[in-house]
Amino acid sequence: MMRFIILIGFAFLCSCGQETKQEAIVEKEVPIKYDMYVPSEMANLMNEMYNYKAELKSDILSGTVPTEFPEQFLKIHTAELSDFKDRTEAFEAVSKAFIEAEQRLFDSTATQSLETRFNTAVNLCISCHNMGCTGPIPRIQKLLIK
Ligand code: HEC
Repeated sequence: MMRFIILIGFAFLCSCGQETKQEAIVEKEVPIKYDMYVPSEMANLMNEMYNYKAELKSDILSGTVPTEFPEQFLKIHTAELSDFKDRTEAFEAVSKAFIEAEQRLFDSTATQSLETRFNTAVNLCISCHNMGCTGPIPRIQKLLIK
């Protein structure tokens, strides 16, 4: 039972915990598991999306209009999650809303500004993370265009 609890704590820390706290706690409580951590397909996709959005933000700020929807984002519908995480109905609903918001960035007939549409998509990253993966939120918030 104890082992089970530690494993859950570990899976949570690696993908969703606050990065600064993560190492200290892991070192103290589960030093062996640390070496065994392999990021899930979803965690890799998330980091890819993060980097893409950070680049897109600086492009938008320098006046470049994005032209091509990043097809790899669609993997959010199928990517494997870390153990102990489920694709709930709410998860599916937010994924869908997020992808639609991303697609609107490439809609040349949109009436909202590119900045507004960009921030709508980032806020949907945050909405999903608010459902139980809160660790990365402070980092994601930095993507918002002020
Ligand atoms: C529909 C829900 C959902 C949306 C939308 C979403 N995320 Fe995530 N995110 C998750 C989940 C769940 C995990 C944990 C993945 C795992 O452990 O398998 C995660 C993990 C992460 C991580 C940590 C990855 C790691 O190395 O462990 C980052 C960073 C992240 N997301 C950033 C983002 C950004 C940036 C966006 C928007 C561009 C975004 N997320 C949109 C659900 C979501």
